Amino acid sequence: MRGMTRREFIKVSGAVASTILISTGLSACGSSSNNQDNQSAMLRVAFNHGVASGDPLATSVIIWTRVTHLEALQSDIEVTFEVATDKAFANLVHSGIYTANQTSDFTVKVDAQNLQAGTTYYYRFSSNGVISPIGKTKTLPIDNPEQIKMALFTCANYPNGYFNVYTEAAKIEDLDVTLHLGDYIYEYGMYENDDFDAKVPAYATSKAVAIGRELPQDNNKELLLLEDYRKRYALYHTDSGTQAIHAAAPMIVVWDDHEVANDTYKEGAQNHDESEGDFAQRTQDALQAYFEWLPIRTIEDKKAIYRRFDFGGLVSLYMLETRLFGRDKQLSYSSYFDAQGNFDAQTFQSDIGSPTRTMLGATQLEWLQQQMATSNATWQLLGQQVLMGKMYLPSELLMVIGGLDGATGETKTALLTQLNALLGELVTIKTRMLQQDATLTQEEIARVTTVLPYNLDAWDGYFMERETIFGTAKALGKKLVVVAGDTHNAWANNLRDYKGEVIGVEFATPSVTSPGLEEYAGLSDVMMAGQFEGAIDLLIDDLKYLNAYDRGFMTLTFDAAQVSANWYYVNGCDSTEYSLNAHRAKTITVANTTGALSI
Ligand SMILES: [Fe+2]
Repeated sequence: MRGMTRREFIKVSGAVASTILISTGLSACGSSSNNQDNQSAMLRVAFNHGVASGDPLATSVIIWTRVTHLEALQSDIEVTFEVATDKAFANLVHSGIYTANQTSDFTVKVDAQNLQAGTTYYYRFSSNGVISPIGKTKTLPIDNPEQIKMALFTCANYPNGYFNVYTEAAKIEDLDVTLHLGDYIYEYGMYENDDFDAKVPAYATSKAVAIGRELPQDNNKELLLLEDYRKRYALYHTDSGTQAIHAAAPMIVVWDDHEVANDTYKEGAQNHDESEGDFAQRTQDALQAYFEWLPIRTIEDKKAIYRRFDFGGLVSLYMLETRLFGRDKQLSYSSYFDAQGNFDAQTFQSDIGSPTRTMLGATQLEWLQQQMATSNATWQLLGQQVLMGKMYLPSELLMVIGGLDGATGETKTALLTQLNALLGELVTIKTRMLQQDATLTQEEIARVTTVLPYNLDAWDGYFMERETIFGTAKALGKKLVVVAGDTHNAWANNLRDYKGEVIGVEFATPSVTSPGLEEYAGLSDVMMAGQFEGAIDLLIDDLKYLNAYDRGFMTLTFDAAQVSANWYYVNGCDSTEYSLNAHRAKTITVANTTGALSI
């Protein structure tokens, strides 16, 4: 077995933030290395936050845990790690000691190297007689695997529910890897503006107390400082679902906006103002906690987390960073209305179509193009946050939806009534159009063909760069599959370029717990949701599937002939008691054809 002959390990004492220990095999002197000094041996410790693995490559994987002082001390803690090919740890391939310290918030991160490709491993940690749970992980295959299966997640909001979605996904035995597409945490406190007198519930916190998911007192304000972000990650890692999914398979992560603040872009965020301090410092603190608490390989420039994973010759996965590395500030419709309420369509079109407008930044875009050009894998998979499909809605519908943002009480009720009536009218016109009804007036046709992008934070707001990606995939003749999170709902789209040519397909995974369109659009039951989904499906040409109502996750299974997306939904997340909602489950299979992929 590789790694058994050359016994070596390197001990790094964690003097700098986000320390990672490189382990190349078994400790040269395991017994003496395990002798801890007297002070250390007396410490009472626990592994309260589970174990995790991530960023698998063909011969290495990151293993992670966090060790806790039970007596609020800050002294270093020596943690033994072990990696084996069997659950009983009889056949060890790695062992060594990591010194966890305050500088890295007592997190432990080891890059276990010299592993065999496409192989399952088990890992665990121990300290002063306390043994962590066992984690299962897997290296990436080389050659051509028959199948690759991944589970995908996004948007886990602690105050809004229990992470049953993670629990359910962890039961799937044959996962090669999991992908987290961002919003692993949310930065909000319990109350708007941290005002504990007014007590207006902050985003997605209104049922937190009732379901036992209130944010703890030492971490119930909006996250601003390193300590705040660390505590939030610690909280999320106490959830049994979080611990289960991390222990079940290696996770590949990227952040979206809420790992720093809502609607982040390169220099700021919607949810950041000067009173909250320097945005660059806030970002640095947020990312330090991210790298400490998630099983991601440590890098120099923390914003540059775009990276590639090859699953042999079957799938090349490109994880993209769409927030902090290069993103220009989002456009906002409100800035294109004059005092009389007239919309300046010309300026808007010119701004949104600007060739310099970027979400990835030139360096990352060039990297992606080069990487895709060098990959011979059957499937090219972009792992990223925001929807790439064109979500163009009739503009009059968009105006009503825009009004719903922040609306409450009677205003909201009136707008929802208006929305429903409008949807009904537009669906009727669109149906008549599809039936080629000759009695349709030009005015009626214009009502459904005058469209605007729904979400300017998504790829719709970065039109030309999306075209460049489409152009690259087309020129290289690649089978393009895009996955997205962010919206809290499940979607499947055909991706078309500006000429209307199909370039590839997109699958979006629903949120773990964050509220979705059902709350926004007032969909009080699954029947209403079904009507709404049908209407939106009909009005958006490229949209092939929408679930606007349920929390869940998605798996993608690739083989040489096809890619299959499976959506799983849970019945509720108000307690850890839940069941799978088989009625709403969905499968879409796309064949590997000679032309571009399409649904
Ligand atoms: Fe989210």
